[in-house]
Amino acid sequence: MNLINKIMKKFFFRKKTNMENEIYEQSDIIFELIRKYIKRDYSIAIDIPDNINKIALIASGSSYHSATIAANFIRTRVHSDAQSYYSSEVALTEDFDVDSDTLYIFISQSGETSDTNECLTKISLKTDKTLAITNTKNSTLYNNSKYKILTFAGPEKSIASTKAMSAQMYCLFLIAIKLMQQRELPAINIIDELLYVPESIKNALTKRQEIKQYANLLADYDNAAILASGMFYPLAKEGALKIKETSYINTTAYPTGEFLHGHIAILNKKCAVISFVNNQNIQFTLNVLKKIQDSYRTDSLIITALPVLDNHSDNIIPITASSDIDFMFSSLILLQLLAFETALLLDRDVDKPSGLTKVVK
Ligand code: AGP
Repeated sequence: MNLINKIMKKFFFRKKTNMENEIYEQSDIIFELIRKYIKRDYSIAIDIPDNINKIALIASGSSYHSATIAANFIRTRVHSDAQSYYSSEVALTEDFDVDSDTLYIFISQSGETSDTNECLTKISLKTDKTLAITNTKNSTLYNNSKYKILTFAGPEKSIASTKAMSAQMYCLFLIAIKLMQQRELPAINIIDELLYVPESIKNALTKRQEIKQYANLLADYDNAAILASGMFYPLAKEGALKIKETSYINTTAYPTGEFLHGHIAILNKKCAVISFVNNQNIQFTLNVLKKIQDSYRTDSLIITALPVLDNHSDNIIPITASSDIDFMFSSLILLQLLAFETALLLDRDVDKPSGLTKVVK
Protein backbone atom coordinates (compact mmCIF):
# COMPACT_ATOMS: atom_id res chain seq x y z
CA MET A 1 0.00 0.00 0.00
CA ASN A 2 1.51 3.37 -0.95
CA LEU A 3 1.96 6.21 1.52
CA ILE A 4 -1.05 8.22 0.31
CA ASN A 5 -3.30 5.18 0.64
CA LYS A 6 -1.98 4.58 4.13
CA ILE A 7 -2.70 8.17 5.17
CA MET A 8 -6.20 8.03 3.63
CA LYS A 9 -6.89 4.75 5.40
CA LYS A 10 -5.74 6.02 8.76
CA PHE A 11 -7.22 9.46 8.79
CA PHE A 12 -10.16 9.53 6.37
CA PHE A 13 -11.64 6.11 5.73
CA ARG A 14 -10.81 4.37 8.96
CA LYS A 15 -13.74 2.28 10.12
CA LYS A 16 -14.20 2.32 13.88
CA THR A 17 -12.78 -0.84 15.36
CA ASN A 18 -14.43 -2.96 18.03
CA MET A 19 -11.58 -2.19 20.42
CA GLU A 20 -12.18 1.54 20.09
CA ASN A 21 -15.94 1.18 20.56
CA GLU A 22 -15.41 -1.06 23.57
CA ILE A 23 -12.99 1.39 25.21
CA TYR A 24 -15.64 4.09 24.91
CA GLU A 25 -18.45 1.92 26.33
CA GLN A 26 -16.77 1.53 29.71
CA SER A 27 -18.27 4.47 31.53
CA ASP A 28 -21.83 3.36 30.70
CA ILE A 29 -21.07 -0.23 31.66
CA ILE A 30 -19.81 0.79 35.11
CA PHE A 31 -22.83 3.01 35.51
CA GLU A 32 -25.02 -0.03 34.82
CA LEU A 33 -23.08 -2.07 37.39
CA ILE A 34 -23.72 0.65 39.96
CA ARG A 35 -27.43 0.55 39.13
CA LYS A 36 -27.54 -3.23 39.44
CA TYR A 37 -25.31 -3.87 42.42
CA ILE A 38 -25.11 -0.79 44.72
CA LYS A 39 -28.36 -0.11 46.52
CA ARG A 40 -29.54 3.28 47.81
CA ASP A 41 -28.65 2.29 51.39
CA TYR A 42 -25.13 1.36 50.14
CA SER A 43 -25.76 -2.35 50.58
CA ILE A 44 -24.20 -4.51 47.87
CA ALA A 45 -26.65 -6.73 46.00
CA ILE A 46 -24.38 -9.67 45.38
CA ASP A 47 -24.44 -13.06 47.03
CA ILE A 48 -21.28 -14.47 48.61
CA PRO A 49 -21.01 -17.08 51.39
CA ASP A 50 -20.53 -16.10 55.06
CA ASN A 51 -17.54 -17.10 57.19
CA ILE A 52 -14.88 -16.51 54.59
CA ASN A 53 -11.34 -16.14 55.92
CA LYS A 54 -9.40 -16.30 52.70
CA ILE A 55 -9.92 -15.45 49.05
CA ALA A 56 -8.26 -17.25 46.13
CA LEU A 57 -8.68 -15.60 42.73
CA ILE A 58 -8.00 -17.73 39.66
CA ALA A 59 -7.86 -16.42 36.08
CA SER A 60 -5.78 -15.89 32.94
CA GLY A 61 -4.52 -12.86 31.01
CA SER A 62 -6.35 -9.60 31.68
CA SER A 63 -8.75 -11.43 33.99
CA TYR A 64 -5.71 -12.48 36.04
CA HIS A 65 -4.63 -8.84 36.26
CA SER A 66 -8.01 -7.81 37.65
CA ALA A 67 -7.65 -10.73 40.10
CA THR A 68 -4.26 -9.42 41.27
CA ILE A 69 -5.52 -5.85 41.63
CA ALA A 70 -8.40 -7.19 43.74
CA ALA A 71 -6.12 -9.42 45.84
CA ASN A 72 -3.97 -6.39 46.74
CA PHE A 73 -7.03 -4.34 47.52
CA ILE A 74 -8.59 -7.03 49.73
CA ARG A 75 -5.33 -7.51 51.62
CA THR A 76 -4.81 -3.80 52.27
CA ARG A 77 -8.37 -2.58 52.77
CA VAL A 78 -10.23 -5.64 54.09
CA HIS A 79 -7.17 -6.98 55.94
CA SER A 80 -8.03 -10.44 54.74
CA ASP A 81 -5.81 -13.04 53.16
CA ALA A 82 -6.21 -12.88 49.37
CA GLN A 83 -4.06 -14.36 46.63
CA SER A 84 -4.30 -14.41 42.84
CA TYR A 85 -3.26 -17.43 40.76
CA TYR A 86 -2.76 -18.05 37.05
CA SER A 87 -5.33 -20.66 35.96
CA SER A 88 -2.78 -22.50 33.87
CA GLU A 89 -0.52 -22.93 36.94
CA VAL A 90 -3.34 -24.09 39.23
CA ALA A 91 -4.47 -26.54 36.56
CA LEU A 92 -0.97 -28.06 36.60
CA THR A 93 -0.70 -28.23 40.42
CA GLU A 94 -1.84 -31.65 41.59
CA ASP A 95 -2.06 -30.81 45.29
CA PHE A 96 -3.45 -27.28 45.10
CA ASP A 97 -4.66 -26.33 48.62
CA VAL A 98 -8.43 -26.25 49.02
CA ASP A 99 -9.75 -25.02 52.42
CA SER A 100 -13.31 -24.89 53.66
CA ASP A 101 -12.98 -21.25 54.80
CA THR A 102 -11.65 -19.98 51.44
CA LEU A 103 -13.80 -18.47 48.72
CA TYR A 104 -12.51 -19.50 45.27
CA ILE A 105 -13.25 -16.79 42.70
CA PHE A 106 -12.90 -17.68 39.01
CA ILE A 107 -12.78 -14.73 36.62
CA SER A 108 -13.30 -15.02 32.89
CA GLN A 109 -14.79 -12.75 30.25
CA SER A 110 -15.84 -15.66 28.06
CA GLY A 111 -16.48 -18.21 30.79
CA GLU A 112 -15.01 -20.74 28.33
CA THR A 113 -11.27 -20.49 28.95
CA SER A 114 -10.26 -24.10 29.40
CA ASP A 115 -7.51 -23.49 32.00
CA THR A 116 -9.92 -21.61 34.26
CA ASN A 117 -12.72 -24.13 33.80
CA GLU A 118 -10.33 -26.98 34.56
CA CYS A 119 -9.46 -25.29 37.88
CA LEU A 120 -13.15 -24.88 38.71
CA THR A 121 -13.82 -28.57 38.03
CA LYS A 122 -10.88 -29.61 40.19
CA ILE A 123 -11.65 -27.29 43.11
CA SER A 124 -15.39 -28.02 43.02
CA LEU A 125 -14.60 -31.64 43.96
CA LYS A 126 -13.46 -30.36 47.38
CA THR A 127 -15.60 -27.26 48.13
CA ASP A 128 -18.78 -25.56 47.01
CA LYS A 129 -17.45 -22.09 47.88
CA THR A 130 -16.91 -21.26 44.23
CA LEU A 131 -17.85 -17.96 42.60
CA ALA A 132 -17.75 -17.06 38.91
CA ILE A 133 -17.26 -13.52 37.68
CA THR A 134 -18.03 -13.63 34.00
CA ASN A 135 -19.41 -11.63 31.14
CA THR A 136 -21.19 -14.64 29.70
CA LYS A 137 -24.41 -15.95 31.19
CA ASN A 138 -24.83 -19.71 30.81
CA SER A 139 -21.18 -20.19 29.95
CA THR A 140 -19.48 -23.30 31.38
CA LEU A 141 -17.92 -21.24 34.18
CA TYR A 142 -21.23 -19.58 35.02
CA ASN A 143 -23.21 -22.81 35.05
CA ASN A 144 -20.71 -24.79 37.11
CA SER A 145 -20.05 -22.26 39.91
CA LYS A 146 -22.18 -22.09 43.02
CA TYR A 147 -22.16 -18.27 43.25
CA LYS A 148 -22.23 -16.04 40.16
CA ILE A 149 -21.69 -12.40 39.31
CA LEU A 150 -22.32 -11.14 35.80
CA THR A 151 -20.24 -8.21 34.56
CA PHE A 152 -22.90 -6.99 32.07
CA ALA A 153 -20.25 -5.57 29.71
CA GLY A 154 -22.07 -6.80 26.60
CA PRO A 155 -20.35 -8.97 23.97
CA GLU A 156 -16.64 -8.16 23.79
CA LYS A 157 -15.57 -8.70 20.18
CA SER A 158 -12.05 -7.33 20.20
CA ILE A 159 -9.43 -9.89 21.16
CA ALA A 160 -7.80 -7.34 23.45
CA SER A 161 -9.97 -7.18 26.53
CA THR A 162 -10.89 -3.67 27.66
CA LYS A 163 -14.47 -3.26 28.87
CA ALA A 164 -14.68 -6.79 30.29
CA MET A 165 -11.55 -6.16 32.36
CA SER A 166 -12.76 -2.87 33.88
CA ALA A 167 -16.16 -4.45 34.64
CA GLN A 168 -14.41 -7.38 36.37
CA MET A 169 -12.30 -4.98 38.43
CA TYR A 170 -15.43 -3.15 39.47
CA CYS A 171 -17.25 -6.33 40.50
CA LEU A 172 -14.21 -7.43 42.48
CA PHE A 173 -14.15 -4.11 44.35
CA LEU A 174 -17.82 -4.73 45.16
CA ILE A 175 -16.90 -8.10 46.63
CA ALA A 176 -14.26 -6.36 48.75
CA ILE A 177 -16.92 -3.97 50.05
CA LYS A 178 -19.32 -6.83 50.72
CA LEU A 179 -16.59 -8.49 52.81
CA MET A 180 -15.98 -5.21 54.67
CA GLN A 181 -19.67 -4.90 55.41
CA GLN A 182 -19.82 -8.52 56.62
CA ARG A 183 -16.98 -7.62 59.02
CA GLU A 184 -18.55 -4.30 60.01
CA LEU A 185 -15.58 -2.33 58.67
CA PRO A 186 -16.36 1.21 57.48
CA ALA A 187 -16.84 1.14 53.70
CA ILE A 188 -18.80 4.31 52.92
CA ASN A 189 -15.79 6.24 51.61
CA ILE A 190 -14.79 3.43 49.30
CA ILE A 191 -18.34 3.17 47.95
CA ASP A 192 -18.24 6.90 47.24
CA GLU A 193 -14.96 6.39 45.39
CA LEU A 194 -16.55 3.59 43.38
CA LEU A 195 -19.59 5.71 42.52
CA TYR A 196 -17.21 8.22 40.92
CA VAL A 197 -15.65 5.68 38.53
CA PRO A 198 -17.88 6.45 35.48
CA GLU A 199 -16.71 10.05 35.80
CA SER A 200 -13.03 8.96 36.15
CA ILE A 201 -13.37 7.01 32.91
CA LYS A 202 -14.97 9.92 31.06
CA ASN A 203 -12.21 12.25 32.23
CA ALA A 204 -9.50 9.82 31.12
CA LEU A 205 -11.11 9.51 27.68
CA THR A 206 -10.71 13.27 27.18
CA LYS A 207 -6.92 12.71 27.15
CA ARG A 208 -7.01 10.95 23.79
CA GLN A 209 -5.25 13.70 21.84
CA GLU A 210 -2.37 13.74 24.33
CA ILE A 211 -2.19 9.97 24.19
CA LYS A 212 -1.93 10.07 20.38
CA GLN A 213 1.17 12.22 20.77
CA TYR A 214 2.78 9.62 23.07
CA ALA A 215 1.68 6.78 20.80
CA ASN A 216 3.74 8.47 18.08
CA LEU A 217 6.71 8.27 20.38
CA LEU A 218 6.11 4.66 21.49
CA ALA A 219 5.52 3.42 17.94
CA ASP A 220 9.19 4.17 17.23
CA TYR A 221 10.36 1.59 19.78
CA ASP A 222 10.64 -2.19 19.62
CA ASN A 223 10.87 -2.41 23.42
CA ALA A 224 9.14 -0.70 26.34
CA ALA A 225 9.22 -1.00 30.11
CA ILE A 226 6.34 -0.02 32.39
CA LEU A 227 7.28 0.75 36.00
CA ALA A 228 4.80 0.84 38.88
CA SER A 229 4.64 -0.03 42.56
CA GLY A 230 2.16 -1.62 44.95
CA MET A 231 -1.40 -1.88 43.73
CA PHE A 232 -0.42 -0.23 40.44
CA TYR A 233 2.00 -2.97 39.45
CA PRO A 234 -0.68 -5.37 38.14
CA LEU A 235 -2.07 -2.43 36.19
CA ALA A 236 1.36 -1.97 34.60
CA LYS A 237 1.27 -5.68 33.69
CA GLU A 238 -2.11 -5.16 32.06
CA GLY A 239 -0.76 -2.17 30.11
CA ALA A 240 2.20 -4.26 28.96
CA LEU A 241 -0.10 -7.09 27.83
CA LYS A 242 -2.35 -4.66 25.94
CA ILE A 243 0.58 -3.01 24.14
CA LYS A 244 2.18 -6.38 23.33
CA GLU A 245 -0.92 -8.03 21.94
CA THR A 246 -2.06 -5.08 19.82
CA SER A 247 1.27 -3.50 18.71
CA TYR A 248 3.68 -6.44 19.16
CA ILE A 249 6.10 -4.04 20.93
CA ASN A 250 8.02 -6.10 23.46
CA THR A 251 6.69 -4.50 26.65
CA THR A 252 7.45 -5.68 30.18
CA ALA A 253 6.16 -4.43 33.53
CA TYR A 254 8.57 -4.11 36.47
CA PRO A 255 8.09 -3.11 40.09
CA THR A 256 9.70 0.37 40.07
CA GLY A 257 12.56 -0.31 42.52
CA GLU A 258 13.23 -3.82 41.27
CA PHE A 259 13.96 -2.38 37.82
CA LEU A 260 17.31 -1.10 39.12
CA HIS A 261 18.41 -4.61 40.09
CA GLY A 262 19.80 -5.60 36.73
CA HIS A 263 16.69 -5.25 34.58
CA ILE A 264 17.67 -1.65 33.83
CA ALA A 265 20.33 -3.07 31.48
CA ILE A 266 17.63 -3.45 28.83
CA LEU A 267 17.94 0.34 28.42
CA ASN A 268 21.21 -0.35 26.62
CA LYS A 269 18.87 -1.21 23.77
CA LYS A 270 16.37 1.33 22.48
CA CYS A 271 13.56 1.11 25.02
CA ALA A 272 10.80 3.51 26.09
CA VAL A 273 9.92 3.80 29.78
CA ILE A 274 6.41 4.42 31.05
CA SER A 275 6.08 5.10 34.75
CA PHE A 276 3.27 5.58 37.26
CA VAL A 277 3.79 8.23 39.94
CA ASN A 278 1.11 8.31 42.60
CA ASN A 279 0.85 9.49 46.17
CA GLN A 280 2.67 6.53 47.61
CA ASN A 281 6.40 6.35 46.94
CA ILE A 282 6.59 9.62 45.04
CA GLN A 283 10.15 10.53 46.02
CA PHE A 284 11.28 6.96 45.59
CA THR A 285 9.84 6.78 42.05
CA LEU A 286 11.34 10.13 41.08
CA ASN A 287 14.76 8.95 42.31
CA VAL A 288 14.51 5.83 40.18
CA LEU A 289 13.54 7.91 37.15
CA LYS A 290 16.48 10.24 37.80
CA LYS A 291 18.88 7.28 37.93
CA ILE A 292 17.44 6.09 34.62
CA GLN A 293 17.87 9.51 33.03
CA ASP A 294 21.39 9.96 34.42
CA SER A 295 22.64 6.66 33.00
CA TYR A 296 20.60 6.13 29.85
CA ARG A 297 19.09 8.37 27.25
CA THR A 298 15.58 7.13 26.69
CA ASP A 299 12.14 8.58 26.17
CA SER A 300 10.02 8.33 29.25
CA LEU A 301 6.39 8.96 29.84
CA ILE A 302 4.99 9.61 33.30
CA ILE A 303 1.37 9.02 34.22
CA THR A 304 0.75 10.95 37.40
CA ALA A 305 -1.91 12.22 39.75
CA LEU A 306 0.48 14.71 41.31
CA PRO A 307 0.67 18.40 40.37
CA VAL A 308 4.13 18.50 42.01
CA LEU A 309 5.55 17.03 38.78
CA ASP A 310 4.61 20.09 36.76
CA ASN A 311 8.22 21.15 36.25
CA HIS A 312 9.58 17.69 35.48
CA SER A 313 11.29 17.42 32.11
CA ASP A 314 9.76 14.10 30.98
CA ASN A 315 6.58 13.66 28.97
CA ILE A 316 3.79 13.84 31.50
CA ILE A 317 0.16 12.80 31.38
CA PRO A 318 -1.47 14.38 34.43
CA ILE A 319 -4.64 12.83 35.80
CA THR A 320 -6.79 14.66 38.29
CA ALA A 321 -7.52 11.74 40.57
CA SER A 322 -9.37 12.07 43.84
CA SER A 323 -8.56 8.56 45.10
CA ASP A 324 -6.48 5.48 44.32
CA ILE A 325 -9.55 3.88 42.73
CA ASP A 326 -10.02 6.94 40.51
CA PHE A 327 -6.32 6.87 39.53
CA MET A 328 -6.49 3.14 38.86
CA PHE A 329 -9.44 3.27 36.45
CA SER A 330 -8.12 6.43 34.77
CA SER A 331 -4.69 4.86 34.26
CA LEU A 332 -6.27 1.70 32.86
CA ILE A 333 -8.15 3.74 30.25
CA LEU A 334 -5.01 5.71 29.33
CA LEU A 335 -3.04 2.51 28.85
CA GLN A 336 -5.81 1.03 26.70
CA LEU A 337 -5.84 4.19 24.55
CA LEU A 338 -2.05 4.18 24.32
CA ALA A 339 -2.04 0.55 23.16
CA PHE A 340 -4.84 1.22 20.69
CA GLU A 341 -3.34 4.38 19.16
CA THR A 342 0.13 2.83 18.92
CA ALA A 343 -1.26 -0.25 17.15
CA LEU A 344 -3.14 1.96 14.68
CA LEU A 345 0.02 3.88 13.87
CA LEU A 346 1.83 0.61 13.24
CA ASP A 347 -1.03 -0.47 10.99
CA ARG A 348 -1.90 -3.50 13.11
CA ASP A 349 -5.27 -5.20 13.01
CA VAL A 350 -6.23 -4.24 16.57
CA ASP A 351 -9.33 -6.42 16.73
CA LYS A 352 -7.59 -9.54 15.46
CA PRO A 353 -3.92 -9.49 16.41
CA SER A 354 -1.93 -11.98 14.42
CA GLY A 355 -2.10 -15.53 15.79
CA LEU A 356 -4.37 -14.74 18.76
CA THR A 357 -7.86 -16.06 19.42
CA LYS A 358 -10.52 -14.59 21.67
CA VAL A 359 -11.11 -17.73 23.67
CA VAL A 360 -8.14 -19.91 24.59
CA LYS A 361 -9.44 -23.49 24.70
C1 AGP B 1 -6.56 -9.96 27.05
O1 AGP B 1 -6.52 -8.80 26.29
C2 AGP B 1 -6.43 -11.21 26.31
N1 AGP B 1 -6.98 -11.31 25.05
C3 AGP B 1 -6.37 -12.49 27.13
O2 AGP B 1 -5.25 -12.36 27.96
C4 AGP B 1 -7.60 -12.87 27.97
O3 AGP B 1 -7.80 -11.92 28.99
C5 AGP B 1 -7.39 -14.27 28.57
O4 AGP B 1 -7.22 -15.20 27.54
C6 AGP B 1 -8.52 -14.70 29.48
O5 AGP B 1 -9.75 -14.75 28.81
P1 AGP B 1 -11.09 -14.92 29.62
O6 AGP B 1 -11.26 -13.70 30.48
O7 AGP B 1 -12.17 -15.04 28.58
O8 AGP B 1 -10.96 -16.15 30.46
